Amino acid sequence: MAMISTYLNPSSQLSGPKSCTAASPPLFSGLRRSSASLSTTQSFFHSVNSHTLRSSSSSNRTSRGIVAMAGSGKFFVGGNWKCNGTKDSIKQLVSDLNSATLEPDVDVVVGPPFVYIDQVKNSLTDRIEIAAQNSWIGKGGAFTGEISAEQLKDIGCKWVILGHSERRHVIGEDDQFIGKKAAYALGQDLGVIACIGELLEEREAGKTFDVYAVPSWDNIVIAYEPVWAIGTGKVASPEQAQEVHVAVRDWLAKNVSPEVASKTRIIYGGSVNAGNSADLAKKEDIDGFLVGGASLKGADFATIINSVTAKKVAA
Ligand code: PGA
Repeated sequence: MAMISTYLNPSSQLSGPKSCTAASPPLFSGLRRSSASLSTTQSFFHSVNSHTLRSSSSSNRTSRGIVAMAGSGKFFVGGNWKCNGTKDSIKQLVSDLNSATLEPDVDVVVGPPFVYIDQVKNSLTDRIEIAAQNSWIGKGGAFTGEISAEQLKDIGCKWVILGHSERRHVIGEDDQFIGKKAAYALGQDLGVIACIGELLEEREAGKTFDVYAVPSWDNIVIAYEPVWAIGTGKVASPEQAQEVHVAVRDWLAKNVSPEVASKTRIIYGGSVNAGNSADLAKKEDIDGFLVGGASLKGADFATIINSVTAKKVAA
């Protein structure tokens, strides 16, 4: 079991949003391994360990060929529709996605609201997989209002988005609770899009993302979503995103394994749109995107998916 956590030293050089002033090398506590089995992952750690990591050593990677990609995983783009849509608007969106031309070398996932998953599953091209936006911590039963991982699989979902900042900061889910959900969903063979990311005040205090436990690294995509960039139109600069992605990948390499570091997709989310996705995609540790608002427009979402072509740059 490993836990996702990263703290930056308050004196870190991690660059903040334009209004932030931050300085000097980042120190991290990070993904912590333990020998706990899946069954024991129900007792999750909630504390942050004192592991430190400096990302600066790897942030100046030299070019490794014609494809600017540090990880070996396929480009991944998820559309998080959040609590948006009606039967009619979703019909239109699905029709736009079905007729869009999408680059083949991208995994594409959309996350409709629960109540429209069946409609989407029955009308959307198989080229695009479906994610739920949440799942319960265990087997279903007397849990009013919840949806179980088994039910998601039954209805054709392949993925679930967990730990999104809106569930943390609006609804109040904590790391322990999210960790339980992640463990259970992974145990049911759902892929997990595990969201991490800091509030503006956390970034200003030197923290970049939160902590929760996961039982294995198979089937996880990490979405780094600085909360100050979500739905605000204030996208992280490619350099800001790259800096954290490098740190996460380095942490995985040192604390889980180089193989996991290479194969785990680390995607960026927060005000990604059709106009900024190509520049972000050029960064070698950005393996794709989790997109909110812009995923509600089929043409824009297709452009973001196709920004994978920006990764193919001259060495
Ligand atoms: P946004 O949302 O693209 O609208 O900023 C991203 C997200 O919340 O996943």
